[in-house]
Amino acid sequence: MSTKDDILAYLGKDSGCWVSGEHLSRRLGLSRSAVSKHVRSLRKMGYVIESRPRRGYVLQERSPALLPAEIRHGLQTAVFGKQQIQYFVETDSTNTRARKLALEGAPEGTLVAAETQTGGKGRLGRAWYSPTGRAVYLSLILRPRMSPLDVPKITLIAAVAAAEAVLAVASVAVRIKWPNDLLVHGKKIAGILTEAGTEADVIGHVIVGLGLNVNTEAFPAPIRNTATSLFLETGVRFSRTRLVREYLNRFEKAYVRTAREGFAPVMERWKALSDALGRQVAVEMLEERLVGRVRDIDADGFLVVEEEGGRLRRVFSGDVFYL
Ligand code: BTN
Repeated sequence: MSTKDDILAYLGKDSGCWVSGEHLSRRLGLSRSAVSKHVRSLRKMGYVIESRPRRGYVLQERSPALLPAEIRHGLQTAVFGKQQIQYFVETDSTNTRARKLALEGAPEGTLVAAETQTGGKGRLGRAWYSPTGRAVYLSLILRPRMSPLDVPKITLIAAVAAAEAVLAVASVAVRIKWPNDLLVHGKKIAGILTEAGTEADVIGHVIVGLGLNVNTEAFPAPIRNTATSLFLETGVRFSRTRLVREYLNRFEKAYVRTAREGFAPVMERWKALSDALGRQVAVEMLEERLVGRVRDIDADGFLVVEEEGGRLRRVFSGDVFYL
């Protein structure tokens, strides 16, 4: 915990109580002027802190930024987000940052969050639109003991967790499109990019990146008709840190449960939230385009598509278009 975290803990908004500068400086072993310097910098970080002579300080509003202290405030996980949280006002890509940390040995549960990304990555080499302070851009480091073949299942667990986090916070009809898109009224509101580091057929780390359009007011022309945000769908602005907490709480629970009981429970939930089952689709893969009807998501998380003529095909990775 940093000194600023300590000051925040003392000011604890819930009690809304005034805390004297003298009390803070005694408790934290700081001079009065050092306390007021930290308070000034907390204000710059978005906290609303009132100060009055002879009364001291009171925290009126927490910061809306994706700060580590805000993500941790009320987080109910044991591991996810309980390790290091690296926060950037701006970075190239939280997935790239997380991968570097993972290669340096960062433990499972380490999180990277940013206000904006200059090189946000989507699947299949696409860019991820990352306007400042409007959306959630975060990447979680996992170190699962599983076969590399099972990594796609982690994306499905994350997709369920993200969909349920959205449902817990906003009244929107969010659906999952295989494998990793969250849609509202057919437009994309979130995407997940999972990148694994393997060595000799063993997983070293898995980076699970989530981009969730929360308060974005407009999208650039190329994606204007295909992207949406919670704000555009509801007219309401939402707390990004609350969404992050809801996501991490659910993700960790399902991840632990999957390790214990297998993939079936999360698959059930995935199917309930999916809008792919029964749909006529085209699936664009690296070397092939497949057309057919989605019959299932199988126990391995593969999309099962029935081609005209009845032949069943299992798809491991690709881009799905509803026809
Ligand atoms: C997709 O749908 O194509 C996946 C999008 C994933 C975007 C997120 S934003 C946070 C993390 N960092 C990245 O560079 N990408 C993921």
